[in-house]
Amino acid sequence: MTYRGAVAGRWLFYDDPPMSQRLAGKVAIVTGSGTGIGAAIATRFASEGAAVVLADRDESSARAVCAEIVSAGGKAAACHVDIREADRVEALLEFTRQQFGPAHILINNAGVSAQKHFLDTPLETLRTMLDVNVAGTFLCAQAAARDMVKLGGGRIVNLASHSGLLGSSGRAAYAAAKGGIIAMTRVMAVDLAQYHITVNAIAPGPIDVPRSRQQHNKERRSAWHRAVPLGRYGEPPEVAAVALFLASDDASYVTGQTLAVDGGFSAAGLRVKQV
Ligand SMILES: NC(=O)c1ccc[n+]([C@@H]2O[C@H](COP(=O)([O-])OP(=O)(O)OC[C@H]3O[C@@H](n4cnc5c(N)ncnc54)[C@H](O)[C@@H]3O)[C@@H](O)[C@H]2O)c1
Repeated sequence: MTYRGAVAGRWLFYDDPPMSQRLAGKVAIVTGSGTGIGAAIATRFASEGAAVVLADRDESSARAVCAEIVSAGGKAAACHVDIREADRVEALLEFTRQQFGPAHILINNAGVSAQKHFLDTPLETLRTMLDVNVAGTFLCAQAAARDMVKLGGGRIVNLASHSGLLGSSGRAAYAAAKGGIIAMTRVMAVDLAQYHITVNAIAPGPIDVPRSRQQHNKERRSAWHRAVPLGRYGEPPEVAAVALFLASDDASYVTGQTLAVDGGFSAAGLRVKQV
């Protein structure tokens, strides 16, 4: 798989495989799409024919990605949102209806992380993790699902993390939130199945986004290279490809699942060179 490369630190387009139009006629909201994984998902969805609303609390970065999509011939609009605020989330849904019609697809990608030893983690950090990652996902999913019920179906994909599946150092607050997203995904899938709405989660391993390039020092990066069987960080378009699958008709009988996109990290136990 090759990529056309990074533009302003973002991977924008695949050269190979050629684009299909798997999301033609669909409207998708991608939260947190001003950078990183969300920007890659929004860009890939637009290239697959979806009209995409890029929703981020950092409006200028959402606008920049939006402009790149539009100049490449895609359909997109940018909207400011703080997913913690119910009225802002309602405004996002209304913006989407006005721009393109109600959303068939919601990608709950916006999130925040924290890295601190358990004994040094303030309660406030836990509250922030739960507020953005769990309550934000809940609010966006509930608002979007109400429109999807009227549409007769839809797709919701929640970004969880390997930290919601496995223990790792310094992740108590973040893991609680991402584990919560995985549990909530299952229940949402059951409650929404009668409306033909599927709900799944993606649990990425280490993905090479601008934030992780800044935050992960040399020691952390080489620890990841050793721990991931594929021996490298994932690229944002590799997560976008899985989001596309889960948002497409190809995943019509998949719901309530969490799919790890982690180079085999969550599958690995003891690994030694000489077996
Ligand atoms: N990058 C990784 O290695 C990795 C690994 C596992 C899980 N994830 C998850 O994948 C998702 C995307 O990760 P990323 O690394 O691209 O993130 P990132 O930090 O690079 O970008 C997150 C985006 O979300 C936006 N955002 C944050 N809080 C918001 C709020 N309250 N309202 C609206 N927008 C808000 C930010 O402005 C930013 O544009 C996150 O949920 C993250 O937890 C990432």
